[in-house]
Amino acid sequence: MVVFSAWPQPKTDMSTWQQILATTLLVVFALSARADPEKNYLLHCSGCHLPNGIGDPPNAPSLRDTIGKIVATPEGRDYIIRVPGSSQTPMSDEQLANVLNWVLTEFNSDTLPTDFAPLNAKEVAKSRSKVLADPQKYRARYWPDY
Ligand code: HEC
Repeated sequence: MVVFSAWPQPKTDMSTWQQILATTLLVVFALSARADPEKNYLLHCSGCHLPNGIGDPPNAPSLRDTIGKIVATPEGRDYIIRVPGSSQTPMSDEQLANVLNWVLTEFNSDTLPTDFAPLNAKEVAKSRSKVLADPQKYRARYWPDY
């Protein structure tokens, strides 16, 4: 095809330094994405709960203020990990712990108990293995008031 041979050819001969730079940028990008709970929230949760956490009731509940009260008990800590949106997310236990801690401190600072101990990967691993089959019924039973 004579016509196409006249097109500018992609430059494929990157210098070693360009290759090192490109690789470094990729690694830095991957690490920063992994370390950033806000990015993971936006990527994995905000589709239903919206970027500011207000949700879209009754389709998806708000994650503002209410769950700060819920995590005051061990059952509540367990619950917010077990809901399908949390437990089934394609994130590691540590990433999910960080996202939930971020949601709690970012959207629930007024209601979060002052002695709240952040969730950790071990606690998340244990709770997320018990996915809630009927989260709405469970919630209505234990936290009917908020
Ligand atoms: C596909 C939509 C969807 C996505 C994505 C989603 N959720 Fe949810 N979430 C829901 C729905 C719907 C409920 C209500 C319980 C149920 O039916 O599962 C809920 C409930 C919750 C609750 C309990 C709130 C309450 O007041 O009882 C928490 C906490 C929660 N989600 C966190 C998350 C987190 C964190 C993520 C991201 C890792 C996430 N969700 C992703 C739809 C979603």
